[in-house]
Amino acid sequence: MREQLARIREEAMAKLNEASSSAELEELRVKYLGKKGEITAILKQMGGLPAEERPKMGQLANEVRAVIEEKLTAAKREMEEKALDLRLRAEALDVTVPGKAPKMGHRHPMYIALDEMKEIFIGMGFTVLDGPEVELAELNFDRLNADEGHPSRDWSDTFYFDEQSRVMLRSQTSPMQVRAMDSMELPIRIIAPGRVYRKDEVDATHSPMFHQVEGMVIDKGVTMADLKGTLNTAVQQLYGEGTKTRFRPHHFPFTEPSCEMDVQCHKCGGVGCPTCKGEGWIELLGAGMIHPHVLEMAGIDPNVWSGWAFGFGLERLAMRRFKIDDLRLIFENDVRFLEQF
Ligand code: DAH
Repeated sequence: MREQLARIREEAMAKLNEASSSAELEELRVKYLGKKGEITAILKQMGGLPAEERPKMGQLANEVRAVIEEKLTAAKREMEEKALDLRLRAEALDVTVPGKAPKMGHRHPMYIALDEMKEIFIGMGFTVLDGPEVELAELNFDRLNADEGHPSRDWSDTFYFDEQSRVMLRSQTSPMQVRAMDSMELPIRIIAPGRVYRKDEVDATHSPMFHQVEGMVIDKGVTMADLKGTLNTAVQQLYGEGTKTRFRPHHFPFTEPSCEMDVQCHKCGGVGCPTCKGEGWIELLGAGMIHPHVLEMAGIDPNVWSGWAFGFGLERLAMRRFKIDDLRLIFENDVRFLEQF
């Protein structure tokens, strides 16, 4: 029995040393220490021993059991530590590896120009309005004095959604004048930037989609002098102190009188150069005093209230501001181009 116990001890130690999984350890525990295990079997045989042998053998069996138990516990702990170590290593995050710098974008040059414009007008007490690009022809044309038969209503120029030409992609931001008159309390001071659409082929100066900024003021006693003063102030801030402007008579259906405003060429100072095509002046925007009939259609009494409005192309403004010579560059979004601003 003594040899038997010695053999069990030796064999158990060897097997426990080789065990490589907790399942194997459990198997060994059952094999040696379980109810039907080898140590238990030996203890059961104890009854057949001479009385004086029993305590010694009992003690020896208990010793062997204790040794195996101890070894089992140690092996288990070791296995757990190893597993934890492996997991930690697998999940380790090396904080010393150099990071990848995120690529930061920035505002598109056209929106830089627009934001400058907004700043200037907000500073003068204007509110910035946003409006729908899908617009009623009634607001885009009728309410702006461009009745049936007006050339700009032609199907060859305008994107309509229906046969009756009632719903369209707005061809100008001017319907925002009507929306403001219909929804706001007087007096009104607004600018309304946004996309507009016309059936134009793409080239260096045209695109079927482009941006305009509309401006409008309605108050008591507003005159053409206010229009000139406000626009001159904006131009000075945009192009620098001392920039000269010139107002030429023009025609728009919704303003009377109407004008176009030019700025003196920033390149040649008015002498004439390729930038201004030898003119010395560059056309910037259309403007005028709001037609009394347009006010009347909005329920505003033209004998009490008067106002002015302007509208300009934002791409053209940005192109001049950043000396960009092809409109397509504004829309292509080539990062190499955009990074320059
Ligand atoms: N909507 C006009 C256009 O697209 C521009 C314009 C001219 C707007 C005169 C105005 C204005 O508000 O008063 O050509």
